[in-house]
Amino acid sequence: MTQPKRYLITSALPYANGLKHVGHLAGAYIPADIYVRYLRAQKRDVVFVCGSDEHGTAIPIQAIKEGTTPRAIIDKYHTAMKQDFEDLDMSFDIYHRTSEPLHHETAQEFFTYLNERGELEIKETEQYYDEESKNFLADRYIKGICPNCGSDRAYGDQCENCGRTLSPDELINPVSTLSGKVPIKKKTSHWYLPLGKHEQFLREWILDQHKDDWRATVLGQCKSWIEGGLQSRAVTRDLEWGIKVPLKDAPGKILYVWFDAPIGYISATKQWAINNNKDWKPYWYDKDTKLVHFIGKDNIVFHCIIFPVMLKLHGNILPANIPANEFLNLEGDKMSTSRNWKLEMRDYINDFVKKENGGGQCVDMLRYYLTQIAPETKDSEFTWKGFQDAVNSELVSIFGNFVNRTWVLMHKLCRGKVPQLHEEILDDEDRWIIKAIENVKLKVENLIEEYKFRDALFEAIDLSRKGNQYMQKKEPWIKAKKLEAAKASPTGGDLEGVQKEIDNCLHLCLQLTANLTILINPFLPNTAKKMLHMMKVVDKMLDWKNAGKLNLLSVGYSLRAPELLFRKIEDEEIKEQMEKLTANSVKQKNDAKVEEIKSYTENQKSEIQYEDFSKLDLRIGTVTACEKVEKADKLLKLTVDLSSETRTILSGIALHYKAEEMIGKQVVVVFNLAPRKMKGIASQGMILTAEDKDGKLRLLKPEEAVSPGSLVS
Ligand code: 2FM
Ligand code: ZN
Repeated sequence: MTQPKRYLITSALPYANGLKHVGHLAGAYIPADIYVRYLRAQKRDVVFVCGSDEHGTAIPIQAIKEGTTPRAIIDKYHTAMKQDFEDLDMSFDIYHRTSEPLHHETAQEFFTYLNERGELEIKETEQYYDEESKNFLADRYIKGICPNCGSDRAYGDQCENCGRTLSPDELINPVSTLSGKVPIKKKTSHWYLPLGKHEQFLREWILDQHKDDWRATVLGQCKSWIEGGLQSRAVTRDLEWGIKVPLKDAPGKILYVWFDAPIGYISATKQWAINNNKDWKPYWYDKDTKLVHFIGKDNIVFHCIIFPVMLKLHGNILPANIPANEFLNLEGDKMSTSRNWKLEMRDYINDFVKKENGGGQCVDMLRYYLTQIAPETKDSEFTWKGFQDAVNSELVSIFGNFVNRTWVLMHKLCRGKVPQLHEEILDDEDRWIIKAIENVKLKVENLIEEYKFRDALFEAIDLSRKGNQYMQKKEPWIKAKKLEAAKASPTGGDLEGVQKEIDNCLHLCLQLTANLTILINPFLPNTAKKMLHMMKVVDKMLDWKNAGKLNLLSVGYSLRAPELLFRKIEDEEIKEQMEKLTANSVKQKNDAKVEEIKSYTENQKSEIQYEDFSKLDLRIGTVTACEKVEKADKLLKLTVDLSSETRTILSGIALHYKAEEMIGKQVVVVFNLAPRKMKGIASQGMILTAEDKDGKLRLLKPEEAVSPGSLVS
């Protein structure tokens, strides 16, 4: 297989609207970082880009929440996320931002290029509009019930619960997140990317050409999108916050965040090239470049379908792979910012990395555990107990223990120097461990090239497991005792033979350690650095081509004293984290309750006397017929039997109830309300509903059916 000339590796650009959690880290960042560190060790030409995604409705919404401006929000979270990534040793070549003028220009040029070539269509459609806040409602500005899973945490772009990509029209009972009001429909024009035109290309490129090398989960999602019928996707919005559509006749229109964000990979590459005096173009135009996007599964459609169509139309290269990860749950539940059920990167950094006994080893401990449980094929789960076990039983007891034993024994039995290998006395056990050292490189390499980082890490660590087994069989400490005894005995013994056996064992264990350093370097870079220091060798030893060699440490070379590679995680620390997790989520619930009470209090009307109340004539009616009112999205026209008479009543519940389901229902009618004309129809009264906090309307009705006309008091 010919090697690509260069690599461009991207990690999803996180929204700058809040701190990110370890689920994000496991999904799109650690795997990319492992891959990149491996490629760098292979001396390949690689650029690793990331940055903050600073557009989209999520940003102004967060600004409202925090009582500040969108600009202040992106500045705050861009800085914080950048710091988190640095503290966890993500080795981006650039961490850019989509608010940079360079990105705005790049995205506008992209739009203009497609538009001028007739690749976009303009369509006028009716979209939800919030009359109170005077905004068209798209993406996070509109909320409702998910048609897929029934969760009420579904937005106009995606369901928070099941991750399904949505459009506002698919939401059941939509409400504006700006005012809490039920929206109306209003006409507006937008630019669309006609994905349907590219179905053939997508089928061939994804379902044929990549059927064997893309993950099954990724192919599955692509297939269902393609087979479900590819709809045109709007690439513009009627919003203020975003990149202006670069056309004179498009005031108030901006580029849709999912149009501009992936172009952020290109502008980041451009900025990297400027900073390093390089040419960015080959990374996006030359067929010899291998482009790989690391993302979470909620980003699949954008990276596998929409962005590739854009790239193709713009004349760029296409991604070679998009190894999307599934989701990482936490202690038996989905991670969720709104429910505060999460472990933010910052929390881990503060509680472990920045502590006195933290540092690089704690970064590597997290990298290790998150790779070991990486949700590569299905959702997986972070548990604090699992973290403790992985660290204590594997990193400390197997890996750390092997390296430490080797060093201590080498200092004790070989005067702190690399002993000689006496080939003439090699036995089967020696040959077994030599084979293991020689073979592991290819295994790890193949697995990394296939994006199977869990398995690759297992193979690398397994070498230390084998090292322990080997040492256990060889028992150099018993041999040392024999040697002591022989020295003390007047008759002596085979002093030389025993020392040779000790030398061979420690020689091989040291070469194995040097190999381990190379193999674990992409996964645990801080540990590799410490091991280099112990071996008194320079970074160059980490070249991937050195893996599998048995002469990495020269005979007679003196090595430093052992250092502790990993510390144990104490039960107390785990307990603290569990308490923190549950306490935070309880606090969140309480905060939500306070909000609810606040909104209840704010909506309170002034006190009235009984006489005021007694003016109301409330009666129970039964709906006998019902139909939608033409040209009024919200209105239903009800025919209500009140026994003494039948009335026509208009009610604004059409977004919450279908006309046919109203028939037969009992309702509470304000009987003596003066008639009002709406849409040319006189409404003779009104029916009572309760409005839920998310804007959903439900009818009030008697607990049991009563005869029509019954008085309500
Ligand atoms: O899901 C997200 O967090 C998006 N901000 C990812 C964008 S990836 C890329 F296209 F920029
Ligand atoms: Zn859903």
